Amino acid sequence: MPILEKETARDQGSQVLPKVPVPPLKQTLDTYLKCVQHLVKEQQFKKTKAIVEKFGAPGGVGEVLQKKLVERRDKTTNWVYDYWLEDMYLNNRLALPVNSSPVMVFPKQTFRDQKDALRFAARLIRGVLEYKALIDTRALPLEFARGQLAGTPLCMEQYYRLFTSYRYPDLKTDSLKVHAASSAPEHMIVACKNQFFVLDVVANSKHLSETEILSQLEKIVKMTENAEERLPPFGILTSDGRTEWAQARDALTKDKTNRDSLALIESCICVVCLDEPSGLEPSDANRALLMLHGGGREKNGANRWYDKSLQFVVGMDGTCGVVCEHSAFEGIVLVQCSEFLMKYITGSPSEMVKSSNFRELPPPRRLLWKCNPNIQGLLSASGDRLQRLVNNLDMDVFKFKVYGKEFIKKQKMSPDAFIQVALQLAFYKCSRRLVPTYESASIRRFQQGRVDNIRSATAEALAFVKSMTDERVTYTDSEKMKRLRDAINAQTNYTIAAITGMAIDNHLLGLLRVAKDLNMEKPEIFCDETYLASNQFILSTSQVPTTVEMFCCYGPVVPNGYGACYNPQSDHIMFCVSSFWENTETSSVVFVKALNEGLLEIRDLCNRSSAAATKPAESSQAAGQPRKSGK
Ligand code: COA
Repeated sequence: MPILEKETARDQGSQVLPKVPVPPLKQTLDTYLKCVQHLVKEQQFKKTKAIVEKFGAPGGVGEVLQKKLVERRDKTTNWVYDYWLEDMYLNNRLALPVNSSPVMVFPKQTFRDQKDALRFAARLIRGVLEYKALIDTRALPLEFARGQLAGTPLCMEQYYRLFTSYRYPDLKTDSLKVHAASSAPEHMIVACKNQFFVLDVVANSKHLSETEILSQLEKIVKMTENAEERLPPFGILTSDGRTEWAQARDALTKDKTNRDSLALIESCICVVCLDEPSGLEPSDANRALLMLHGGGREKNGANRWYDKSLQFVVGMDGTCGVVCEHSAFEGIVLVQCSEFLMKYITGSPSEMVKSSNFRELPPPRRLLWKCNPNIQGLLSASGDRLQRLVNNLDMDVFKFKVYGKEFIKKQKMSPDAFIQVALQLAFYKCSRRLVPTYESASIRRFQQGRVDNIRSATAEALAFVKSMTDERVTYTDSEKMKRLRDAINAQTNYTIAAITGMAIDNHLLGLLRVAKDLNMEKPEIFCDETYLASNQFILSTSQVPTTVEMFCCYGPVVPNGYGACYNPQSDHIMFCVSSFWENTETSSVVFVKALNEGLLEIRDLCNRSSAAATKPAESSQAAGQPRKSGK
């Protein structure tokens, strides 16, 4: 597609993407039953089946809601967008760190001294300005789908929210506000020792040079040196539950000084966090933890402002990365932005040498806060709750080095589907059951497309993991291989359905929300135990691939769950597995051990099967030879 490849996002208007479809009702209900049948008890399934059949019967509630949904599709650009945004993010009352905001962890940087770290930060800020300029001028190259069903153009809208959005807390539902491009902000907020500063990035209609930014950052660091001048750590409030933070924000806004400070933070391009050394060994897992929660009140937990979409973290000890408020965009967009920045930092010559690029500027302003005993109490309570989150997060970053995408492609299997099946095997090895699983599937092929869910705990995956682990029954390699292929096919087919707008989660949510909009009694299908359980994603997974050395991670979405983010490369796969220490059923290290074992067993199975296939005479014997499962 040589012509299309030259297109930029500016041209996208000329080729309008299709609208997200509304799948046929019967198709969704059938898939729903297929997804849950093997995950619930037989009796419960019978009950669910009857409820679903009644819902989908001719003239039933389902038909009424489906009709309304199709009308909504006609009237809106994307019928599911608002429903999904509220359900997935804005209605969620949990604290943003760990529970919602994913992070990118950059390779550990080696800074000789503080100045070196500030030089890195200045360069990063210049990179942000360059990237923002591409976005503002609509000059970002238009993206095309890769992998399954490659080649279709993708919706670029998420990029336009990177530097212009802010998530406001509220008592029941947060709101995501996006500035109009015309009112684009021209300042960043720099956090240093829990103090917040306004860094104007434009002076006399000209962007600050790298040298000027460095000089401003040095002034900020200097201004924070005197501990007595430091104001209380207000940023910690944003790490709290959304309702708690909304209440605290109400208390803050009673004072004009606080209102002014909030307004400046809420309208900034991004936050840059200059973090103190954490004192922790800079392992992948520790850097991931620090990026996810800042290490709590005693470390950099208050040196954050979680409502803002992008927070770039530069730790004086070389721990660097990005914290992303998730409601405005997906991890894939975050990756593109982060990769641009890393390439900018490492790839382009420093502007520092050009002394002509320096103007003496007034120092950045420190944001002022008015505190009182009530607010002091709120700060302390938020700090305690963040500490609990810090103590609770169990993170394991695992680089599986034995093979990567290339080996899987050689088996003529989809790498993503293969990894998903391996995750199911790992879970089964740990818990002897499969559970509702979420895998994000991009629907950016459609206007304003975000994601839907691939329910990876398929019946075929269950059959496969049983064949690999059953101690009582022995399965031949060819039986196991058949089950593996069935599981991978089922997963691949679900993926294709999801990325073409035919998955079930968005559709079921749409039906539920339309019923609410119509003030109808909640349909029985959505009160059913099976539906409620099927939305508790004990395994929450996502592929976030990178082309530059860095990795993405996030926390579990339920107390008894795992977060599993993976980054498949040609010869290795990076996994970030998270869980909560407070839950006795989960353990990240145990999961990773099972994952490693399972990946090796699947490789051995594939290798034995291909060896058997290339040696027909011996193979009938070898393939027919039962093996003790999973050992
Ligand atoms: N044999 C050989 N090769 C195969 C194959 C097969 N049977 N099936 C797929 N492949 C190849 C593909 O052609 C592709 O090749 P490429 O590396 O040259 O592009 C590669 O394997 C990867 O394809 P696959 O593993 O099937 O996955 P995918 O790249 O299509 O990804 C999803 C699947 C679901 C992850 C993707 O569609 C998606 O939605 N990604 C976004 C996820 C997201 O939003 N994450 C962030 C959430 S915050």
